[in-house]
Amino acid sequence: MQMKLKITVVAAIAAVASMALAQEVQVVKIGSVAPMSGAQSHYGKDNANGTLMAAEDLNAQNLVIGGKKIKFEIQVEDDAADPKQGTAAAQKLCDSKVSGVVGHLNSGTTIPASKIYHDCGIPMVTGAATNPNLTKPGYDTTYRIIANDNSLGAGLAFYAADALKVKTVAMIDDRTAYGQGVAEVFKKVALTKGIKVVDDQFTTDKATDFMAILTAIKAKKPDAIFFGGMDPQAGPMLRQMEQLGMSNVKYFGGDGICTAEVAKLAAGAKTLDNVVCADGGASLKKMPGGEAWKKRYDAKYPGQFQVYSPYTYDATFVLVDAMKRANSTDPKVYIAKMHETNLKGVTGTISFEPNGELKNPSITLSHYVDGKKTALN
Ligand code: ALA
Repeated sequence: MQMKLKITVVAAIAAVASMALAQEVQVVKIGSVAPMSGAQSHYGKDNANGTLMAAEDLNAQNLVIGGKKIKFEIQVEDDAADPKQGTAAAQKLCDSKVSGVVGHLNSGTTIPASKIYHDCGIPMVTGAATNPNLTKPGYDTTYRIIANDNSLGAGLAFYAADALKVKTVAMIDDRTAYGQGVAEVFKKVALTKGIKVVDDQFTTDKATDFMAILTAIKAKKPDAIFFGGMDPQAGPMLRQMEQLGMSNVKYFGGDGICTAEVAKLAAGAKTLDNVVCADGGASLKKMPGGEAWKKRYDAKYPGQFQVYSPYTYDATFVLVDAMKRANSTDPKVYIAKMHETNLKGVTGTISFEPNGELKNPSITLSHYVDGKKTALN
């Protein structure tokens, strides 16, 4: 009798202990890294918002991983779109022992940072960096959930030649890994389509005065300009094109100029109507969860939507999905599951090629109608 009681008590204690274990909350940190300061901070805010929104939604699911209730916390770091600050931010995230990283945004920061994450064994998923070189080393820690610049540059060159019958183009790039890379792809494909490149000009990702290079380009009378760079340059450039009477020159660029902000920065210049830009996924309308998601986003972060937040939202879910399948939040354990990803996200179904590129990427070309980015396909 006494023996039986003892066994019952022991069993009860064990049950209570295991319940306590199941309810023990483990905080799991995920890094969000992008330019949070400077002229590109609007992109960074949008990226961080996507990740924060994902963490909120995931926390509402009360996930139990490895027997512990998980609470996700986002550690936001600023790389200022600067390669050196990018590696410093990456090292900080490694030192903070985050379980995964969503970022970076610029190819110029993402490529050097990807080596740091590889060395410390933390998976990173970018929803924004598009230079194809990112996945060249084949790190098992590097993943991208958007199309790369090979698709963006080629898609734009085909559209320029076939749909808009562009015959001559002047190139400008900002000499960053992204700007230079996407311009090179466009140029290569444009040449194969019989488009003549009449000028090659360079600027930086800090410049705002383009009068000298635009004046040089104007003398060559191109049908179009291709700009490899971001919107803090594209906006003023469009204004200055108008001032120089270049209002009939078409203006092509990649995802970096395909933002809501570029319309604001162009400040009413009519040249905005000549912009055709490409980003590396479906339009919000065509994304499986796009429009409903955007409504929720706008309610939380009014006026802050740019372009990449649906991807950083999905990137966060990609990391957590691998943790769930591995039943571990330890990057050294769950990393083995990253390649088996097959996730229906807001942006589409996400699975990876062996090198970490997205399988079956798509691109969307857009233009601006009454200052609003509007998909062409
Ligand atoms: N797609 C841009 C880049 O790679 C943001 O830098």
